[in-house]
Amino acid sequence: MTLVSIKNELIKASLYGYAVPLFDVFEMQGIEGVMDALIEKRAPTIFGIYAPYAKLPNCRALSAYIRCRAEDTEMPVSIMLDHGESVAQCLQMLEYGFTDVMYDGSRLPLEENIANSRQVVEAAYRFGAGVEAELGQVGMGDDYESLGGRGYGFTDPQTVEIFVNETGVDFLAIAFGNAHGLYKRTPRLDLDLVREIRQRVKVPLVMHGGTGLSDEQFRGAIAAGISKVNFATSIMNSATENMRSAAADPTASMFSISEGIRTAYHQWCGQLYDIFGTSGKASVR
Ligand code: 13P
Repeated sequence: MTLVSIKNELIKASLYGYAVPLFDVFEMQGIEGVMDALIEKRAPTIFGIYAPYAKLPNCRALSAYIRCRAEDTEMPVSIMLDHGESVAQCLQMLEYGFTDVMYDGSRLPLEENIANSRQVVEAAYRFGAGVEAELGQVGMGDDYESLGGRGYGFTDPQTVEIFVNETGVDFLAIAFGNAHGLYKRTPRLDLDLVREIRQRVKVPLVMHGGTGLSDEQFRGAIAAGISKVNFATSIMNSATENMRSAAADPTASMFSISEGIRTAYHQWCGQLYDIFGTSGKASVR
């Protein structure tokens, strides 16, 4: 199947109470590891290209590689810009054939976040692409200690309807105690906030910062209304560990070492599909 926007799969996930993951990938072995897992588990999947990597000259070629591999499977596969830094960058990735883009204006004043997100939505419409925006600020796990309570950075439920109506975004990333990277202490997710936002808007809700959450926390967040989960750091750390131990073998080769990336993605993605309820959910045409 050719690449598809993940819009329909996320609507389906929000109706039936499971989540579709986004896995950030950086090179070929990781892409192959995700492919191994998504074929095995028959799971719809989003390949994420993290914005700083989208600036590299090989980004267009990397996305073409994902497109070719998607054509080799009947599972729905999307390629999405993760944390798009500007309207221009989102436009550029749409030109490259990305099927979905995230524009991250979460650090801007609300009006500016709305205006920019809306511009991305208008541009994406021509491509049939889906658009995610972020309201509230999902911080870094390192900063988590300074967050606390329904405090700084958490999505204000009073603004979600205005934001979704005025921008027309397809998916909304929200902040409710989740954070990117490794957490310093056990994260506490405010699931009441997720439920409240779920009541207020119909668009599929997104949780960034999958690393460091327990299976139970994932299941709780999905039951409360999360339909997409972004995941990266744990897979990257496992890949690094695998490569370190492979390299310690004096007979190691370039192939045996780099295989560690593929294995890490394959194992992590397979497990996460089962936890998120994504396994077997691919709409096959
Ligand atoms: P983690 O690195 O915490 O898994 O989060 C990834 C992410 O949210 C990418 O957008």
